[in-house]
Amino acid sequence: MLTRTKTIIASLALWSAIPGLLQVAPPAAAADARSGDQVYQQVCAACHATGVADAPKYGDGAAWETRIAEGQEILTAHGWVGMRGMPPRGGRPDLPLQEFAAAVAYMARSAGADWQPPNPGMLARVREEIEARKTEVARKQ
Ligand code: HEC
Repeated sequence: MLTRTKTIIASLALWSAIPGLLQVAPPAAAADARSGDQVYQQVCAACHATGVADAPKYGDGAAWETRIAEGQEILTAHGWVGMRGMPPRGGRPDLPLQEFAAAVAYMARSAGADWQPPNPGMLARVREEIEARKTEVARKQ
């Protein structure tokens, strides 16, 4: 019985180490998704830390205020599709929507919003807004 308990403890320790090891691999499933903080550091900060091409800066309440007022679904969708100096998906075609949306929420929180990383319901609404935005952009072209 004691040996069995030890085996269980040992395997729990092994499994708890695995998420850390997986972070270097490209995220595929939602469970492995990078946090908004991580995605911001790795992708978005290149422009949003210093305001390249007039990107709204991290922590700049004035730059984000009217954008935050649009709402989480709409702002996330607009960033995802891209506009002017903001490349689609922050310039990373392989970036999953969940991670992009978490990074948007992270930047919005830095500017005073209470946005959280997206749950499935939020992601579904963001996808609807993305389709609406694509239609709007196509009509203007
Ligand atoms: C190559 C530079 C660049 C990178 C990288 C970048 N952005 Fe941006 N982003 C911009 C610029 C420039 C704007 C301002 C666009 C405008 O309003 O003209 C912007 C605007 C935005 C907006 C506001 C869109 C709106 O409707 O006003 C969001 C949201 C956003 N970015 C999210 C992100 C996220 C999340 C990432 C990382 C995954 C990211 N950006 C990476 C340049 C960048």
